[in-house]
Amino acid sequence: MSIPATSGTARADAVLRPRHPLRLSGEQETLVIPLYAKALDYRSKHSILHDRRAEELVQSIDFDFERLRSPGNPRVLAVRAWQYDVWIREFLAARPRSLVLNLGCGLDTRIARIGPPASALWIDLDFPEVIELRRNFFSELDGYRMLGASLTDPDWLGNVPADRPVLAVADGVFEYLSEDGVRSVVGRLTERFAHGEVAFDVMNSYALNLGNARLQGKTEARLRFAVDDLRRVDAFVPTWRRTTTVSVLASRVLPFWYRLIYALAYLSPNLRNTIRMVRYEF
Ligand SMILES: C[S@@+](CC[C@H](N)C(=O)[O-])C[C@H]1O[C@@H](n2cnc3c(N)ncnc32)[C@H](O)[C@@H]1O
Repeated sequence: MSIPATSGTARADAVLRPRHPLRLSGEQETLVIPLYAKALDYRSKHSILHDRRAEELVQSIDFDFERLRSPGNPRVLAVRAWQYDVWIREFLAARPRSLVLNLGCGLDTRIARIGPPASALWIDLDFPEVIELRRNFFSELDGYRMLGASLTDPDWLGNVPADRPVLAVADGVFEYLSEDGVRSVVGRLTERFAHGEVAFDVMNSYALNLGNARLQGKTEARLRFAVDDLRRVDAFVPTWRRTTTVSVLASRVLPFWYRLIYALAYLSPNLRNTIRMVRYEF
């Protein structure tokens, strides 16, 4: 069965097979967290993403999704995904021949939500085991490729054309790397391309500790990269500049009541900076 795009033109043709087993562990297994969050968002009355494909993927995978349900409110992960969608659409509208690198893509349905123009090139990258799983649901088409590699492997970028403006997005991914790992990944990205943008999210140490306490006993995955002061990340690459910082709690896409509740949380620096999405230009 071919699933039509949630919006725009589907470039990845997803083929669902009934109840596909999911045999991943560690960080790889965490791909179910945002996937399930998007499915729950789809089921909710005030859906942010309207991601029917995420719901269909959840229905077709044999896994106890409740076991790794997002710690806290799954809506926060929908907000995070929405923000990257906005940035990618903006970037592609201004530069339709761009390369979008979706780093640590998991089973993200973003390509279907966005429906990039035919002139763009989109690469979804994750560990080889994850890409193998992903190939059960998504097919490569013109302008859409899937790449199986570890982000921290210095060689994968050699397989990526460097002749287009690039937007690299890591949605819920860098938290699982070490600080040195993040620094070298962004260093290599900014060396490989003449110019472009890198967008990713960071958790503060309060959120990281809370997240790890909630993951304990459920998966071997551990969150490692905490950022309390963004100036440290600003210094990772001498040639980049942070252009945007958005706290998930202050997102304009949140329904009114959430914004009201989160406005109170925003008064506490610990809560305000739990998850921030940052965008760098180089
Ligand atoms: C929480 S999931 C996010 C998945 C996806 N970005 C989304 O929003 O649905 C984290 C993903 O990062 C991937 N990941 C973590 N470390 C990685 C690495 N070193 N190389 C490639 N992928 C990695 C995991 O395999 C997993 O798919």
